[in-house]
Amino acid sequence: MKMNIVSIPGDGIGPEIVAEAKKVLNAVAAKYGHEITFKDVLMGGCSIDAYGEPLTQETIDACKAADAVLMGSIGGDTTTSPWYKLPPEKRPEAGLLGIRKALGLFANLRPAYLYPELAAACPLRSDIVANGFDMVMIRELTGGLYFGPRSTVERDGQQVATDTLVYSESEIRRVAIRAFDIARKRRKLVTSVDKANVLDSSRLWRRVVEEVAAGYPDVTLKHQLVDSCAMELVRDPGQFDVVLTENMFGDILSDEASMIAGSLGMLSSASLNETKFGLYEPSGGSAPDIAGKGIANPIATILSAGMMLRYTFDLDKEADAVDAAVKQVLADGIRTGDIMPKDGDGADLRRVGTAEMGDEIAARI
Ligand code: IPM
Ligand code: MG
Repeated sequence: MKMNIVSIPGDGIGPEIVAEAKKVLNAVAAKYGHEITFKDVLMGGCSIDAYGEPLTQETIDACKAADAVLMGSIGGDTTTSPWYKLPPEKRPEAGLLGIRKALGLFANLRPAYLYPELAAACPLRSDIVANGFDMVMIRELTGGLYFGPRSTVERDGQQVATDTLVYSESEIRRVAIRAFDIARKRRKLVTSVDKANVLDSSRLWRRVVEEVAAGYPDVTLKHQLVDSCAMELVRDPGQFDVVLTENMFGDILSDEASMIAGSLGMLSSASLNETKFGLYEPSGGSAPDIAGKGIANPIATILSAGMMLRYTFDLDKEADAVDAAVKQVLADGIRTGDIMPKDGDGADLRRVGTAEMGDEIAARI
């Protein structure tokens, strides 16, 4: 198969971790006889430096012309970087929000899985995660508070700021369908998270999700309020299979889910539209404090490349090979710093940097 991939290395650790994901994709291509072309484009802070804006039409067009996009991370230190002196719509994050909207990437999949080898990195008590957990958060990505009308105005001698949480039935329906389709291939449980005891948008969310659920009699639907979900995630994470939620709740809950999985450096994500096209990126950020040191964990980006093989190219065997290679390096005791046990107990483990981790995973494809 020919794969036409655009990559957006971005800022901070982005270029380092994307290089390792490319290495692994090239290993997959060599082993299974595929042909990959990569084209790099700028977005985020590096695009501000080059063109004065975080997202150019050229980058959008390049992404639209590709089969899939492999992204690293964007942004810098919000207290020291000059990018954060710019107005909000000119900052690096505006590039990320802009590309999501421009490409119609409404469904954001964020798996959270506890590798048995990393159980020591999980901050939860061992009896809580004795049976592990394996969930995927499906976050609506192009609606809600992130994209509703906003303003800051002067009223009665003070500033008043407004953000608006807007959802239409069709926006809810299309992401719910994704969630049920995915649940059907997993343990067949969808937990839909909302705040229906307070918000109109959540009451609409609940009704539309129930309508979609009627078409999936083999999948169980549970509704959960977002505060209760935040609590249950740390009380009993094993109960979740597919968690479906709106943009802002999903932003918060997916960070919580990633933390209990041990490290943000382990969690992949896929952002999909109605077609096979997707943007694949690690769930973590640009980590400016460790950028350029060669110590960032590339696993989340490599797993995201695996999701690309699965969701965009329908190459399940190849995607399984990526997942298996990651499991194997962990089983072989190879660790980046973020997933080393904190208590100093790691005598049988080998600590490696970003590039070596990529080499080891590529070698196991
Ligand atoms: C994420 C990030 C982004 C978001 C930021 C960087 C705009 O936190 O992908 O979760 O809030 O969606
Ligand atoms: Mg976030």
